[in-house]
Amino acid sequence: MVGTPKIPDQLIETLRTARHLVVVTGAGVSAESGLPTFRDKQTGLWERFNPEDLATPGAFDRDPALVWGWYEWRRMKAARALPNAAHLAIRRLEEIVPRVTLVTQNVDDLHERAGSRVVHHLHGTLKNPFCSGCKRPFHFSPEIPDDPEAGRSVDPPRCAHCGARIRPGVVWFGEEMPQREWNIAEQAALECDVFACVGTSSLVYPAALLIQRAIGRGVVTVQINSTGTDLDKLVMFDLRGSAGIVLPALVTGAYPDR
Ligand code: OAD
Repeated sequence: MVGTPKIPDQLIETLRTARHLVVVTGAGVSAESGLPTFRDKQTGLWERFNPEDLATPGAFDRDPALVWGWYEWRRMKAARALPNAAHLAIRRLEEIVPRVTLVTQNVDDLHERAGSRVVHHLHGTLKNPFCSGCKRPFHFSPEIPDDPEAGRSVDPPRCAHCGARIRPGVVWFGEEMPQREWNIAEQAALECDVFACVGTSSLVYPAALLIQRAIGRGVVTVQINSTGTDLDKLVMFDLRGSAGIVLPALVTGAYPDR
């Protein structure tokens, strides 16, 4: 963990006058809520599990119970987690900046539970599974699921209409992102005057194209990340530190009276 970096005065000034801010978040924004990221050394999900076995349509065809059990484990963890200071700081920005477009690659609902009303989920959500056959939505019962172990197989429920297996409501490798969410995110990247990416390695496409669009337009770009990424030298402001510390410092610095 790193401490609070100095927030540059120029960034504070920019934020004060921002008209349209885009915030793109990744797994790092939920890390301080206790949810693992994907690529952090030792703790990242893809350090422990093989995405080929869990996050592709082929994986679900081969072993639906393994895949369903893994996503149920993640749903349980997300349901028991609480939004952290980073989610809340983004919520505060929404109250202050005239227009904020919040885009996330995360499948948890911690932004919503922090109070953000419109969250564009590029990779789907754990809460909205659907039928792998007829695509109708499936509704979970409201209770928080049991605490299945990671890697435990759980048979997916069957669709009440067509009998096919219910699948997790997430976007897997090799699948299209939801077109509407992507269009909104892309348009926002082409229109905003400030673009911030928070807690993402910016390695997964097409989501990573968004920051590249903003960099290409020459608008103010900010990265908040606890470690370095390929964008360190490309963004205008590279703030190294935990999102739960840096984001509140940024908001308080720009809007001390709000
Ligand atoms: P990654 O695990 O690739 O990156 C998380 C980033 O967050 C890393 O760069 C960390 O340094 C940073 N980080 C960790 N803790 C942090 C903290 N407390 N504060 C700030 N930064 C922190 O996760 P994503 O970029 O979200 O897709 O991954 C993108 C996609 O890859 C995911 O949506 C998922 C995955 O495969 C699918 O499953 C389709």
